[in-house]
Amino acid sequence: MTLSARRIPVAGPSITGREIDYVTDAVTNAWYGNANVYHRRFEERFADYVGRQHAIALPSCTSALHLSLLALGIGPGDEVVIPDSTWIASAAPIAYVGATPVFADVDPDTWCISVSAFERAVTPRTRAAIVVDLYGGMPDMSALEDVAARLGIPVIEDAAEAIGSVYHGRRAGSFGVASTFSFHGSKTLTTGEGGMLVTDDDRFRARCEFLRDHGRTPGDTTFRSREIAYKYKMSSMQAALGLAQLERIDELVAKKRAIFAWYRDHIQSSPLGARRLVTLNAEPAGVTNSYWMVTAIVSPEVGKTKQELIAELGERGIDTRPFFDPLSSLDAYCDLPAARAAAEQNAVAYGLAPRAINLPSALSLTEDDVTIVCTELASVLGVS
Ligand SMILES: Cc1ncc(COP(=O)(O)O)c(C=O)c1O
Repeated sequence: MTLSARRIPVAGPSITGREIDYVTDAVTNAWYGNANVYHRRFEERFADYVGRQHAIALPSCTSALHLSLLALGIGPGDEVVIPDSTWIASAAPIAYVGATPVFADVDPDTWCISVSAFERAVTPRTRAAIVVDLYGGMPDMSALEDVAARLGIPVIEDAAEAIGSVYHGRRAGSFGVASTFSFHGSKTLTTGEGGMLVTDDDRFRARCEFLRDHGRTPGDTTFRSREIAYKYKMSSMQAALGLAQLERIDELVAKKRAIFAWYRDHIQSSPLGARRLVTLNAEPAGVTNSYWMVTAIVSPEVGKTKQELIAELGERGIDTRPFFDPLSSLDAYCDLPAARAAAEQNAVAYGLAPRAINLPSALSLTEDDVTIVCTELASVLGVS
């Protein structure tokens, strides 16, 4: 067994002198009349990058999803369709506005929402769908857009994990009425904590800007709020960090893709590949996957659960994470009627989750780290 001197991390950022310089400048100078300079630069550049008209910097992706649902006027009695395989942050804002999630199954290749499951999940009460670009993969967006347009359902794209992915020439973050991003410390582009909401719709943007600042229009100096709303703002220091990261986005995405290619090549040329024991993230024709998390689905013939794999790799100094259990299986949801129905229907989400893990994908990884992970993975799978 090869033990590396340090643990091999599952996720983490790349920080250079540029980030440190920008944050230092923000903390020194972004006050008084300059308080919003970094926000403006980060938002404008971000909107340009994803191909949207407007970007609003926020404290998290969760708050971006919350504002999106509020701006669509969604509330009690409404249903929102959501893929069953995602982080709870995609779904929790549905409860914040008093609406009900409906958990659709995912596609066996992309692990993102299945178009036919989406269509089946729609009822007369459906008011929106949140589709998720899971681990950097993209759902079949053109088919989803067609179905959503035919049924008159607004789509929100949760692109938290997918900055830099491209679907047939359109970047992740350019689909639906609005898209949302996370800049949590684990993400490809980080501001420590943070998020962004992007949209092309002027009224949607205005509503979100109003709701994110205690029911005031931007620039208000009267402090006379017109509605009870929220305080969802990013700090200048975070915006400065985000701008520096955005200026390096091509490099950051290229590193993610390089990490994936190291795994793919190593696994393909090893007995793991020959025996087809491991399936990695898909990249369908026309899609560029930014591979936020390299993810391994392990063949059932291995006979080990993801918890066993995570524990055994952990003993060897390798940090991994479980593929998301279906939302409908979580204590938070499992008693809802929609969750009970999903547990019976969502065979793909329930089939993938017990045997899939996220492999180390941190931006600090070297090819040697990936070689160690592949060697140890082969060993725990009994193929060394
Ligand atoms: C798919 C998905 N949606 C939403 C979020 C929420 O992001 P944040 O932590 O910035 O609120 C995350 C973050 O991990 C995520 O992975």
